[in-house]
Amino acid sequence: MADMRNIVILTGAGISAESGIDTFRDAGGLWEQHKVEDVATPEAFERDPDLVLRFYDMRREAIQAKQPNAAHEALAKLDAAWDGELLIVTQNVDDLHERAGASRVLHMHGTHLNAWCTACDMRTKWTGPMLDRPACPECGERALRPDVVWFGEMPYEMDRIYASLRKADLFVSIGTSGAVYPAAGFVQEAREMRVRTLELNLEASMGSRWFHESRHGPATQLVPQWVDEMLGG
Ligand code: OAD
Repeated sequence: MADMRNIVILTGAGISAESGIDTFRDAGGLWEQHKVEDVATPEAFERDPDLVLRFYDMRREAIQAKQPNAAHEALAKLDAAWDGELLIVTQNVDDLHERAGASRVLHMHGTHLNAWCTACDMRTKWTGPMLDRPACPECGERALRPDVVWFGEMPYEMDRIYASLRKADLFVSIGTSGAVYPAAGFVQEAREMRVRTLELNLEASMGSRWFHESRHGPATQLVPQWVDEMLGG
């Protein structure tokens, strides 16, 4: 991988699993505990806002008690040391990449730690609950919602992601099942653009066959190993 300069890294719930945050589709995962259509769609929010806000209040509180693991830390180390372009595109709504020290991070599915005011469109850092309908610090309306992308909504910053993929020499996918588009399609787009592709996942994913190389194991082992390879350590 010595000739690699520009890197796009896609991360999913698997990278935060060893920090104690449930994934979505593994046994006992979040989508076994809750129905997507009850808590993660704009229709659900319209139908039963209390249920949706309570679900996200719980998740927001839970992630703040978790800590980054060795995989987040290794990516932060790569981010700090890498001279070429690098973008960590995460589907995760936790802030563990940032807390590990990474700065080139894009949250394509939003973040638990932002509130989005549907009245004035402002986004504000938010760590507390929303169930009690707090006022927007900007406009005063009680119209805040979690700044997360729900099913049926458009993920954030797709133009920037595709622009980075076009310039990439290497695309690496970490801890994601390949079940949710558009992220699941990045590997195919990368292949079409002749970008080298590598998957690091606990087990074979739905997209494994698209990758030039697929390594299986826990992120806390695979990611530090791969980062050491990249940094020549
Ligand atoms: P999933 O729950 O679909 O997949 C998690 C993947 O991580 C699986 O392939 C696991 O095998 C793998 N995994 C589990 N533990 C791991 C570990 N310790 N090390 C490495 N890999 C591990 O989660 P995502 O692919 O992130 O979207 O899900 C994608 C999107 O679906 C989420 O962003 C969310 C969800 O619905 C929205 O809410 C819009």
